Amino acid sequence: MATQTPSDKDRVVIFDTTLRDGEQCPGATMTHEEKLEVAELLDTMGVDIIEAGFPIASEGDFAAVNEIARRAKNSVICGLSRAAPKDIDRCAEAIRPAKRNRIHTFLSTSPVHMKYKLQKEPHEVFEMVVAQVTRARSHTDDVEWSSEDGTRTEFDFLCRCVEAAIKAGATTINIPDTVGYTTPEEYRELFRRVIENVPNSDKAVFSVHCHNDLGMAVANSLAGVMGGARQIECTVNGIGERAGNAALEEIVMAIKTRNDVFPFATGIDATMLTRASKLVAAATSFPVQYNKAIVGRNAFAHESGIHQDGMLKNAQTYEIMTPESVGVKQTSLVMGKHSGRHAFQHKLEELGYQLSDNQLQDAFVRFKALADRKKQIYDEDIEALVDEEIATAHDRVKIVSLTVIAGTMGPQTATLTVDIDGQHTTHQATGNGPVDAIFNAIHAIVPHEAKLELYQVHAVTEGTDAQAEVSVRLAAEGRSFTAKGADPDTLVASAKAYLGALNKMMSKRGKVPGVEKRIHANEVG
Ligand code: KIV
Ligand code: ZN
Repeated sequence: MATQTPSDKDRVVIFDTTLRDGEQCPGATMTHEEKLEVAELLDTMGVDIIEAGFPIASEGDFAAVNEIARRAKNSVICGLSRAAPKDIDRCAEAIRPAKRNRIHTFLSTSPVHMKYKLQKEPHEVFEMVVAQVTRARSHTDDVEWSSEDGTRTEFDFLCRCVEAAIKAGATTINIPDTVGYTTPEEYRELFRRVIENVPNSDKAVFSVHCHNDLGMAVANSLAGVMGGARQIECTVNGIGERAGNAALEEIVMAIKTRNDVFPFATGIDATMLTRASKLVAAATSFPVQYNKAIVGRNAFAHESGIHQDGMLKNAQTYEIMTPESVGVKQTSLVMGKHSGRHAFQHKLEELGYQLSDNQLQDAFVRFKALADRKKQIYDEDIEALVDEEIATAHDRVKIVSLTVIAGTMGPQTATLTVDIDGQHTTHQATGNGPVDAIFNAIHAIVPHEAKLELYQVHAVTEGTDAQAEVSVRLAAEGRSFTAKGADPDTLVASAKAYLGALNKMMSKRGKVPGVEKRIHANEVG
């Protein structure tokens, strides 16, 4: 049979919003450097459009979008903006350096959003749609307009807004399922009907944007494409507001694996999906659930005897796609303290990581230190170590040493030395238990208002010498910051995780008064 090249009609545009809708979800904050790293990977793996952030939201968001726009080689770089002229202008400024850029401007159109959120009448909203698209078009030829809460919008009003947006110059029309409410049949029908009813619908590409509140984001997105949409908005690992967005890796592999049902093509190199998942999980400190489709640890694991027997006879008995097709390599090397740098690098490639030379060198030093302390090094140990390397590469405050007195005699005491921008500072603190003592010591060194929202420990592997992986989430001024720390010593892992979350908070805010004061004191004395 002759291979068919996909025509424009069959090509589905992948619009990744990991750095905007994904990063918006509580606790998934990424630092500036992490955003650049994620964007570089998305750009390389074939994402058509990267929604790099919401430039008006903060100086940090603006800077990240702007730098991503400067660096992107292939992808269109997009920024989000509300309807206000200053939002749109700020967005345009941020994306300006990109070879190809897009403004994505949105406005709520559902009765409940118009009445309570916007407090505007439909005719006022209609006028705002025309004004926002017109303004965006004055900056760039590539403008996307979204009808926020589109799936709960009255049909005729939706059609009128879509028609007006296209007339004003929108080249992509997104009808989001903002609250994750729709169903596949309903969403497919919505696109079919809007495209049929809007007279100028042929002048724009229609886009799906689904949230996963009822667990149907991917199914709904694919249904929307069956209804005529040709752009899918999604995120790596499905991260996003509340229950998340449609997962990019699931969309791509559903189209690839069930091409008989979804006869479309994307430009994504699927063998990079595992790497993307690992990078985003490490950067956000958001773990991927074990049984997550495509990129979960168990996605290709066969445990039951019957399944293993079938797999040994023919992999197709229980495998609808190969692990290699999503970038999982068969792991072959057993790592230990005698393993060299080359073997370590090879193992990282098997696990789906690609580190810069500096990161690789640091991770290798950490690996050697771990191998000295732990008899058996499992893949999970290396993953925890590398995730930490990725997440802490640009931290300003790092642990140097920790001594803890714990046990029944009390008081539990922690003596902690940290490195702040190259200067060492030590503090001793007591607490109600060793973890409390450590956190009190950190608090004394780096005074801050953040509240501890989550403290969680889990063993990376089995065995009493297993590494502990601690997750810490801190909340301050309505934002939360999550980080992980791994170490064979649970208390060291706890200190690393807390410092990791603090570092994220600092990078988001630009500075934390305690750190700046201490640096100044160190410089002075
Ligand atoms: O979910 C949503 O409606 C959005 C819009 C900004 C597109 O994220
Ligand atoms: Zn959204």
